[in-house]
Amino acid sequence: MKDHGVDATSQTANIRPADMITIPDLIRKKRDGGQLSDDEIKAFIQAVKEKTIQDSQTGAMLMAIWLNGMVSAEIKALTREMMSSGEVMEWPDEWKNFMVDKHSTGGVGDKVSLVLAPALAACGCKVPMFSGRGLAHTGGTLDKLESIPGFKVEQSREQILKILDSVGCCIVGQTETLVPADRVLYALRDITSTVDSLPLVTGSIISKKGAESLSALVLDVKFGRAAICKDFESATELAQMLVEAGNGLGIRTAAVLSGMNSTIGRCVGNSVEVIESLETLKGNGPDDLMELVTTQGDDVAQQLSSVRV
Ligand code: URA
Repeated sequence: MKDHGVDATSQTANIRPADMITIPDLIRKKRDGGQLSDDEIKAFIQAVKEKTIQDSQTGAMLMAIWLNGMVSAEIKALTREMMSSGEVMEWPDEWKNFMVDKHSTGGVGDKVSLVLAPALAACGCKVPMFSGRGLAHTGGTLDKLESIPGFKVEQSREQILKILDSVGCCIVGQTETLVPADRVLYALRDITSTVDSLPLVTGSIISKKGAESLSALVLDVKFGRAAICKDFESATELAQMLVEAGNGLGIRTAAVLSGMNSTIGRCVGNSVEVIESLETLKGNGPDDLMELVTTQGDDVAQQLSSVRV
């Protein structure tokens, strides 16, 4: 494989080496319906990580992907490169068969993570959840947690290990060292109307889960009026992409499809959702939330039982 350089400008076009990839070349190729090679996707993500690409160029590439989609090989390369844009966690040997997580594609009033992460930790699992902020109209787990005064969602690798050791679960955000490419793309998707691209959702979610070095993963793929996927068919397609990408990284991955035509639980809003989650952990939660937590907890257990030796 050639180690191509990348140039964010087109001004050097007439003096650059013939095989140097420029960002405008990559955008044009994707815009015109071409398939990006592994090297080209690597060059794009590297430019995002190293900030040698302008936001306008990243936005244009995101829109080209939104318009033309990606084939399975491109999604695989995108996910791998996003994951490797930062640190990939390593865990003590004794934890290795217990590293689990769940992730939702996003909804309104979706606070399942706030309840399920500590519930799984109470069952002896380790849950290193790299989560997200609000995306389009969907709520973000990190924003909800930050409604607790003093709560810090940016943690170093060392702190994550410490928290997992003492608490069993931790919910953190992307940083300059943890999936930094997702940190940039996530924010730009939100302001360029490119949130609902199935390959971009897959790269975003599975890169974070890959960086967590998980044993087992359950994905809650939402469909309905308040979800990224408006219908069951597109949610099924997304679920298949996510499961293929997760299993491709060696994580035992399963997906649940659940409706998102009405809010989950009774509360919508960052701080009230935290309060409702705490009530649910005490056994006083609304039925729909309790059902989602127990169903997904059971799915995690099933995935884990097929991992353990
Ligand atoms: N959650 C993520 O982390 N990324 C998405 O694209 C959607 C939901």
